[in-house]
Amino acid sequence: MELTNKRVLLTGASGGLGRPLASLLVSNGANLVVVGRNAASLDQLKQELAPATVECISGDITAAAFREQLATQMAQSGGLDLLINLAGTNTFRNFEAEDPAELEAMFQTNLIAPVLLTRALLPDMLQRGRGHIVNIGSILGSLGLPYFTTYCATKAGLQRFSEALRRELADTPVGVTYVAPRAVRTAINSDAVYQMAEATNMAMDEPDAVATQIFQAINKECSEAYLGWPEKLFVRINALLPGFIDRATAKQNRETRRFAVDSSPEQ
Ligand SMILES: NC(=O)c1ccc[n+]([C@@H]2O[C@H](COP(=O)([O-])OP(=O)(O)OC[C@H]3O[C@@H](n4cnc5c(N)ncnc54)[C@H](OP(=O)(O)O)[C@@H]3O)[C@@H](O)[C@H]2O)c1
Repeated sequence: MELTNKRVLLTGASGGLGRPLASLLVSNGANLVVVGRNAASLDQLKQELAPATVECISGDITAAAFREQLATQMAQSGGLDLLINLAGTNTFRNFEAEDPAELEAMFQTNLIAPVLLTRALLPDMLQRGRGHIVNIGSILGSLGLPYFTTYCATKAGLQRFSEALRRELADTPVGVTYVAPRAVRTAINSDAVYQMAEATNMAMDEPDAVATQIFQAINKECSEAYLGWPEKLFVRINALLPGFIDRATAKQNRETRRFAVDSSPEQ
């Protein structure tokens, strides 16, 4: 996808992956609309990206009124070429200790909001005969990992949504890309995740490198991109032989649980 003068809406733009991705998008000529709840950090990002054309719209993507506002603004100002659903959140704890309200909010942010934002923006894309939707999932959307149970469920939903919509839109000018990174060194991960990663030798990528891979997947309009080796192989094995992955995770479970349960508020 050629990005020069393309209008791109990026949710989660102020986060650890959002900032380097925003930088790549504007340096390749995109006119960027950045979205997040914290207006000050969006303004700071805009200053960092100057003199590129960047529009900040602060709000909560889980709010229906905010999604409608975004759709109206995009439609009234020439439409949108690319929607990147990047905003997300996670927890790392044993499932019985999940806070029900936080659990529900994670489904809202990671799954319901990107699905409904796509629903709000897609009709205008189809009417104008142009557009592309990019959903940022996770390797954990295709590989259930203990103590990330809720997060895995949200990203699995996003993966299937992306797959079905891509097939549904195959004979239209609107494309769909799903990108699934493995763990990345950003603030979405708590100290407990970093400690667990260290203790279990779990690989964690640098945000700049992952943003570059996401950008490349967008550029090539990939259907799906799973990032990280051997994780992308584990995704394939899990689909064919889940019992093999059951046994592999069981070995690490005791060690992982030590960090997950320590980090749980109710333990
Ligand atoms: N880091 C990883 O290990 C990793 C691995 C695989 C996939 N991913 C996925 O990559 C995406 C980005 O993660 P990240 O590592 O960059 O996380 P991050 O640094 O915590 O950034 C999250 C971003 O989402 C925004 N956000 C969260 N809730 C929102 C809401 N309700 N409305 C609007 N914006 C909201 C945050 O801004 P405000 O707080 O200002 O709203 C922030 O810009 C997520 O979807 C995540 O699941 C991350």
